[in-house]
Amino acid sequence: MAYPKVTVVGAGQVGATAAFLMLEKSLCDVVLIDVAEGLPQGKALDMMHSRSVEHFGPKVSGTNDYAETAGSDVIVVTAGLARKPGMTRDDLLTANGRIIRSVVEKAVQTSPDAIVLCVTNPLDIMVDLAWKVSGLPAARVFGMGGVLDSARFAHFIAQETGADISTVDALACGAHGDAMVPMPRHSYIDGKRLTDLLSADRVRELRKRTIFGGAEVVSLLKTGSAFYAPAASIVSMVKAVLTDSGSVMPSCVRLNGEYGIEGVHMSVPARIGRAGVLEVPELDVDDVERTALQESAETIRVSIASLEAMDA
Ligand code: 2OP
Repeated sequence: MAYPKVTVVGAGQVGATAAFLMLEKSLCDVVLIDVAEGLPQGKALDMMHSRSVEHFGPKVSGTNDYAETAGSDVIVVTAGLARKPGMTRDDLLTANGRIIRSVVEKAVQTSPDAIVLCVTNPLDIMVDLAWKVSGLPAARVFGMGGVLDSARFAHFIAQETGADISTVDALACGAHGDAMVPMPRHSYIDGKRLTDLLSADRVRELRKRTIFGGAEVVSLLKTGSAFYAPAASIVSMVKAVLTDSGSVMPSCVRLNGEYGIEGVHMSVPARIGRAGVLEVPELDVDDVERTALQESAETIRVSIASLEAMDA
């Protein structure tokens, strides 16, 4: 059987875990690429050794050469330095900017028809940079931030209320960082608004825990940052593209006036399919939510300007 081809750039924890989940779901063939010699090859071989146990059809290969990624349907960019304890995502700005430039240029050259899903932090700024470097239409370059943040919000809601996780539909938008905007009025348990079920104080605590959910994992791990939930979030987005599902998922997309925001990449609900971002259907936000989204977008705009100033 012929499978679609997905390249995962970066064979670290996030990239390798995402690759393995894609294989487990028999979603696509995977090419794992990294600058470290032996690392993607070794991890790919290890995953292939599990084939007869896990019974997956597709194949994974590891390489240091972009020629082997040619003709990919999707390129997932996870390459970059991970946060260390005490480090903010913005500390990574310059170092990862350099990596994104080099990786995206090479990957898009060999796979000019691919959808690019960027995961590297600081996410929203790296997606903007990846889009600029790629020269591709905005619909084909987007980022994974909102799916992960919403998944964390859903977990904390379920944990706090005792609700079954399958009944929780949570939404977090905005920057993937301290300026995140978890949206309790657009989050539900069994179809009921969170704001009608919990006190304002409890909602505030859940929002806070969500915003710092990634940092909580970093401080527990001590070396490196989260990878299971990020990888699962990546795979759900890759699946939406490959199956042309048209699912609406919080995605880091370029905004063109939605929510009064222009020319910034930030997570909001977006319809994802084979052509990338199919539509950005606007949520019915109130004034407080609209202002929060706009303030979040401003923090991203400031970081983009500071990256551009450093490069000037
Ligand atoms: C996180 O939120 C690493 O950005 C990633 O855990």
